[in-house]
Amino acid sequence: MNTIAVLTSGGDSPGMNACIRSVVRFGIASGLKVFGVMRGYTGLIEDDMFQMTERSVGNIIHVGGTILKTARCKEFMTDEGVDLAAQNLKARGIDGLVVIGGDGSFRGARELAKRGILVACIPGTIDNNLFYTDYTLGFDTAVNTVVDLINNVRNTSVSHDRVSIVEVMGAGCGDIALNAGLASGADVILVPEVKWSIDSVCQKLLNAKKRKKQCSIIVLSEHVCDPNDLAKMIQTKTEIECRTVILGHVQRGGSPSTFDRNLGSMCGAKAVEMLIQGECGVVGYRNGKIIYVSIEDALHGTRKFDINKYILAQKLSF
Ligand code: F6P
Repeated sequence: MNTIAVLTSGGDSPGMNACIRSVVRFGIASGLKVFGVMRGYTGLIEDDMFQMTERSVGNIIHVGGTILKTARCKEFMTDEGVDLAAQNLKARGIDGLVVIGGDGSFRGARELAKRGILVACIPGTIDNNLFYTDYTLGFDTAVNTVVDLINNVRNTSVSHDRVSIVEVMGAGCGDIALNAGLASGADVILVPEVKWSIDSVCQKLLNAKKRKKQCSIIVLSEHVCDPNDLAKMIQTKTEIECRTVILGHVQRGGSPSTFDRNLGSMCGAKAVEMLIQGECGVVGYRNGKIIYVSIEDALHGTRKFDINKYILAQKLSF
């Protein structure tokens, strides 16, 4: 192993820069040449890459986003696209590739591995939707961002005696909603993993009003239902004023938390170590330790929702 490359793919997440820094510096310190690929798999197909030095990653550890930029590349979903990407890597003498991204990016990496490229993946997504790792890179920062923003929503909801629905991201995984909901004292948390009914939500809000609560916060995971329709139904059924806040991409930006900087740094170094040892796979974090599993294993399995945490959040919000 002489030369490796690193790319970020899919939705960006805070901590990706810390991770790139680690891959580049750990790689160089281990005697490797390290290339940065621009815009994920798009850069591989277009041969848009450059050799990085230890200075290329200076002053980025605290910065959100990704200096390598990112993309969701449609062309890479075709055999021709993957063939071209593999050819471009081989033509530059690149033997190993670090992919920082979510499950879609892992599937792409698996295709490259089939074409003889050694790949080490790192779970970079705010969604925390991968079952083999306790945390994905960026999740901790995103939850903290959401909690800060809900604090602001709570201020104005109290002033107006309102119900506020705050929609958060998650791509089918309720972890952001659950963890931000518990940490911000939400009255209702609606996630894809737990069944709910409009009547039980309204009953909870009416009970809260009876108990003289000054406001109620509902944290809603994206795609569970339309937040504006939900607000209208609540207002009609309870006669309590209800407003909607869709947080959107503010959750993906911002300076990474200490946890995400450290997770990115540890995962980056582990990925390089794997490539040096000739291992293909996916890095993760389980029970306080950096681990790795095969790409296949990482993709087969469903994340277990923490129902006890959910029940606790419900119990504490009366
Ligand atoms: O996977 C990360 C994520 O932010 C999801 O939570 C969300 O559903 C999606 O990406 C949004 O994608 P885009 O940035 O393409 O709008």
